Amino acid sequence: MKLELPRQTERFGSVQINDIQRVLLLDSAGDDDRGQTGVSSVPRKSIHEIESKMAIVIPVKDEKINVLEGVLGAIPSECLVIVVSNSSREPVDMFRTELDMVEQHVHFTKREVWIVHQTDPGIGKALKNTHYKEILDAEGSVRDGKGEGMVIGMLLAKAAGKEYVAFVDADNYFPGAVHEYVSVYAAAFHLARSPYAMVRISWASKPKIQDGSLYFSKWGRISAVNNMYLNKLISSHTGFDTEIVKTANSGDHAMTMKLAEMLDFRQAFGIETYEIIDILEKFGGVLKPTNSKPMADGVEIFQMETLDPHFHEDKGEEHLGQMLADSLLAIMGSPLCTETLQKEVEAELPEEFEKREKSIGSFIRVNTEAFLQRIIKSGSIFMFG
Ligand code: GDP
Ligand code: CO
Repeated sequence: MKLELPRQTERFGSVQINDIQRVLLLDSAGDDDRGQTGVSSVPRKSIHEIESKMAIVIPVKDEKINVLEGVLGAIPSECLVIVVSNSSREPVDMFRTELDMVEQHVHFTKREVWIVHQTDPGIGKALKNTHYKEILDAEGSVRDGKGEGMVIGMLLAKAAGKEYVAFVDADNYFPGAVHEYVSVYAAAFHLARSPYAMVRISWASKPKIQDGSLYFSKWGRISAVNNMYLNKLISSHTGFDTEIVKTANSGDHAMTMKLAEMLDFRQAFGIETYEIIDILEKFGGVLKPTNSKPMADGVEIFQMETLDPHFHEDKGEEHLGQMLADSLLAIMGSPLCTETLQKEVEAELPEEFEKREKSIGSFIRVNTEAFLQRIIKSGSIFMFG
């Protein structure tokens, strides 16, 4: 794969945020060139090596089953796939449908897929026993929420001994795009100099139907607002205006396990924005650092622009409003957010939203092997392949 070098890099303490890097050439055997000649070139072989150390977590809630099947088919067989579902069990058991589809997929493809339902009582119990209660409700089940599902996926990825954990949304209509995301994650990890790295996908365009014809829009409304406030949060400390953050809401993203373990997460749809905030809080040098190792090694955030357009399910205005609210609340709640900025962000909150801004903490203290053993025993995980 050949990639543009980032035109600009913003530094915030030990955190390095790279500007967008476009994919120039999707696939090449190529030389290993980290930018000496003006482009980065990552050999196909290195991409495959990293993929074999990567788990791909697919959070899913009531998506179209054939879209999910396409996503599975797009993920290289080297990767362990972990489906974390919060789909409805009644009146139609959507989870059962997913399970059947996965079983059939694995029967034909002979690859490895794990699947769990996030509200399964066995999962809640295992988390309670391994002392990770932040994602449980009063009855001891894991709460609804995408963030909650993602954390379960990360625990399982760690239990599987993976070095990298990546996410792809289940509502990606084009399998080719998903395949590209995974290659791009691996390429970025190959380029990373620090063991603490994150890759976030920025799409070249999002196709929409407008006035009866196709229109390829560049920025979604919600991400434009969130990117702006995240950038303001950075500027308010550096004293320089910046537009460096372009992927505040990127659901398709990946981390080294070493970085994932250091982070605190957030409920529902605030999680992607909060990951960046948490990195800035922990390693940005403004607040007291929580861990000296990433301070010395640095934390790298890559933002990669794919060749494929991003085409996913349109979930409507209400969903977008809630997503905006979750993200804005994450920004407002940060100790890095100045009073002036807090007021500005508050004015931006949608009229109606459910106020949920719970931190769901970090999973570093969980003995992931014990967690996995427990849920195998309770029959809460289905491991195919
Ligand atoms: P958007 O693409 O960011 O607008 O958000 P989506 O609604 O498409 O959600 C992103 C992904 O998370 C999709 O694959 C959803 O099916 C999935 N998702 C949404 N809510 C939940 C949840 O509560 N639990 C899990 N496990 N997945 C969820
Ligand atoms: Co979506």
